[in-house]
Amino acid sequence: MPGRAWDNVVVMDHPLIQHKLSILRDVGTGAKEFRELVKELAMLMAYEATRSFQLAETTVTTPVAETTTYVLAGKKVAVIPILRAGLGMVEGILELLPAAKVGHVGLYRDPETLQPVEYYCKLPEDIGERDILIVDPMLATGGSAVAAVEFLRAKGAKTINLLCLISAPEGIDALVTKCDDVTIYTCAVDSHLNSHGYIVPGLGDAGDRLFGTK
Ligand code: PRP
Ligand code: URA
Repeated sequence: MPGRAWDNVVVMDHPLIQHKLSILRDVGTGAKEFRELVKELAMLMAYEATRSFQLAETTVTTPVAETTTYVLAGKKVAVIPILRAGLGMVEGILELLPAAKVGHVGLYRDPETLQPVEYYCKLPEDIGERDILIVDPMLATGGSAVAAVEFLRAKGAKTINLLCLISAPEGIDALVTKCDDVTIYTCAVDSHLNSHGYIVPGLGDAGDRLFGTK
């Protein structure tokens, strides 16, 4: 059972998402298909994560008549991948939100301590004015996501959402405890972490599977 209420957690159980996630998890899925699936899943997640965006009225003249319609109300978005696996989710989101800016936060998990180590950061200058979508396929201990949120907050970020494909309960607990105003969108909450900090059943090492490094 979660230690603290998971009010800000949205589990995306859409059949298309669950179907693609099953193929993604399969150990037999190669890097090319894995990359395509991560991109498609990120796009589907962005569709849901932008549901609350405000609309503004506009007028359009169709070939038949003038009519009142709606457009996005000038929402400014920043997509922030946690390097390196988060990179795989950026393109799919930019296809839906081409005006979004992209910032990068470089964090890796020390394999011994499982603590996040920062090695790179480059953010849009107006980060404080943008709705932020942090993207990372895996939320395991939550150390990387919490570090990214705290880091972005220190740079002035206000509205922060996290999009992760697979989460462990431990990671969600860590995030809702330490960053209770962040909304988490995830496609699955798995069983637990193993003794190496890997999500069970998970999909293995997301970065290695995306980039073919193992
Ligand atoms: C993975 C993953 C997350 C992190 C999750 O990255 O992409 O960033 O682990 O684990 P946590 O919730 O316990 O922090 P990794 O450190 O393997 O780096 P990589 O993306 O460069 O492979
Ligand atoms: N990082 C990954 O890539 N996979 C896991 O299962 C946990 C952390």
